Amino acid sequence: MNETTPTLLVNDLRFSYPDGHQALNGVDVVIRRGEKVALVGPNGAGKSTLILHLNGILNGGEQVQIAGMPTTRKNLPQIRAKVGLVFQNPDDQLFSPTVFEDVAFGPLHMGLPEDEVRRRVGYALAQVGMGDFAGRLSHHLSIGQKKRIAIATVLSMDPEILVLDEPSAGLDPRARRALINLLDELPLTMLVSTHDMLMVRELFPRMIIMDEGRVVADGKTAVLLEDTTLLESHGLEKP
Ligand SMILES: Nc1ncnc2c1ncn2[C@@H]1O[C@H](COP(=O)(O)OP(=O)(O)O)[C@@H](O)[C@H]1O
Ligand SMILES: [Mg+2]
Repeated sequence: MNETTPTLLVNDLRFSYPDGHQALNGVDVVIRRGEKVALVGPNGAGKSTLILHLNGILNGGEQVQIAGMPTTRKNLPQIRAKVGLVFQNPDDQLFSPTVFEDVAFGPLHMGLPEDEVRRRVGYALAQVGMGDFAGRLSHHLSIGQKKRIAIATVLSMDPEILVLDEPSAGLDPRARRALINLLDELPLTMLVSTHDMLMVRELFPRMIIMDEGRVVADGKTAVLLEDTTLLESHGLEKP
């Protein structure tokens, strides 16, 4: 990879679900290293479907590339290590008895030595401000804490890009604030789908609007948020 290779390249991605519903109708996205990008649009726009293609849960083949590597079947183990995908519901991500085991799962699965696994778990938990939680039971945590642990489970993989699907949905104001501060501080390339337009304005210099399986706008958040006609025609509101 050289300096000009984007961290994420999506080229004319099309996808229909088995029932025939076409959820993606030719999506193009380029994200460069260090960018923090919001993905917005009404329910059913295709945001989650796009996100599921980024680490090969849905197969994007050559149409989706991570740091120059196509998401073809043979590359999937490496792709899964490069793309830190955090699902909307942390219960879909946390399945081990303890926080330590959940955060260690990815690095262990990569075959890293035990010392390195411990080092990564410690680092990931510290990054999300949960350094004291390694021995706790994942399913006893609050939703805000679970969300942070879910983020730690992908940070421990040292990903090229962090991809979050509606991370602030269902959080109380304090947990939401903690999440926003965390995302602000993490020095990572990220793509974050959300309906939280206040968070978009505060955190993301660039915003991509999807509707009906297409990208309908992609540009500076400050500019797009002034375009009331554009926002209204895609079910969005200026915060
Ligand atoms: N498993 C599925 N089977 C069939 N259609 C689906 C499935 N998941 C999502 N869809 C449809 O695909 C479209 C895009 O959905 P989705 O990607 O979840 O949108 P968003 O995340 O923007 O709300 C919607 O019309 C939705 O109903
Ligand atoms: Mg969704």
